[in-house]
Amino acid sequence: AQNYRITLLPGDGIGPEIMTVTVDVLKTIAKQYDLQFDFTSVPIGGAAIDETGEPLPAKTLETCRNSDAVLLAAIGGYKWDNLPRHQRPETGLLGLRAGLSLFANLRPATILPQLIDASTLKPEVVKGVDIMVVRELTGGIYFGQPKGVFATETGEQRGVNTMAYTDGEIDRIAKIGFETAQKRGGKLCSVDKANVLDVSQLWRDRVTQMSEQYSDVELSHLYVDNAAMQLVRDPKQFDTIVTGNMFGDILSDAAAMLTGSIGMLPSASLGENNPGVFEPVHGSAPDIAGQDKANPLAQILSAAMMLRYGLNQPQAAKRIEQAVLQVLDLGYRTGDIMSPGMKPVGCRGMGEILIQVLE
Ligand code: NAD
Ligand code: IPM
Ligand code: MN
Repeated sequence: AQNYRITLLPGDGIGPEIMTVTVDVLKTIAKQYDLQFDFTSVPIGGAAIDETGEPLPAKTLETCRNSDAVLLAAIGGYKWDNLPRHQRPETGLLGLRAGLSLFANLRPATILPQLIDASTLKPEVVKGVDIMVVRELTGGIYFGQPKGVFATETGEQRGVNTMAYTDGEIDRIAKIGFETAQKRGGKLCSVDKANVLDVSQLWRDRVTQMSEQYSDVELSHLYVDNAAMQLVRDPKQFDTIVTGNMFGDILSDAAAMLTGSIGMLPSASLGENNPGVFEPVHGSAPDIAGQDKANPLAQILSAAMMLRYGLNQPQAAKRIEQAVLQVLDLGYRTGDIMSPGMKPVGCRGMGEILIQVLE
């Protein structure tokens, strides 16, 4: 059997619940595809703060580095929201992304025919939506210097973050954008705020320059405010979107609602020389944590992305994705994707049915 070392980062809130279900799914898949997964679970986020005082203990990062792929659930919660920045769960997640140089975050938003009624938009608007958001993940305003809260001469406080991109950072994510579009519908929309921001003008210029190497990709540009509006107005116009860290964060949550629920959307965070991190787009959902209400499908589909992009096991990935469709065809729904006449299940129930379908 092919052997893989998988680091599990269950994190906080609904994280451990959706992770447990997903590991069971992976164990089932392993039997069927003659794979062997060695799982190591290590703390991150609030769970790590409680255990060690830090959101990303050195041992956690080291374990991730030494694995073939990392499966992350979610971090964060009210309990840690008032700690100093360096001790916040979110800082741990950013440290993980930076520590593994995971500059490319792929966030697919595909509407499944079974869930058309779960979207808050009209069926004719969302039917056929198939978008890939390529989000830059280790630069931009999340990481730019200077940052912090500083005292001014007048005694006021001044909060500062800096949106910065080097041409090298833009080029490497643009390349992923073009290559992704090439493998998909051949259309790339670059989203920026070049009408106002210098960093965005550089972004636009570099992306435009690179488009000369990709004559088979049709490039367009949108300002981020218009892009947000267009995503809701007519999402089918989009194929692949490439954008910076914060714009990608916001637009991918908006794209999530086209598909019915953020509880459905997986993502892959990839770099060049380190294992990828596979994580749902949603957070730790503290409002429903511990109640067996979470939709585990974003996490399970993230495991499928791990099989495809991280472990080069596309068949096993496909099998999981098919099983998700089958479970939805059977009418099972967690609360977030519920619609009239469907069968309500919890997090564990959804996992059990999925495993039955796989078997
Ligand atoms: P969230 O994504 O956790 O929740 C937003 C809403 O979506 C909530 O109503 C929640 O119940 C619902 N939801 C999310 N995932 C769901 C699922 N799988 N099934 C059913 N419903 C689901 O965003 P938030 O409330 O803004 O943030 C909560 C915490 O999560 C914060 O601490 C935030 O920093 C953190 N966060 C972490 C990540 C991550 O780990 N990658 C991502 C986003 C937010
Ligand atoms: C996400 C989250 C994170 C982000 C936070 C929790 C740091 O919102 O993964 O989308 O902003 O990148
Ligand atoms: Mn987000």
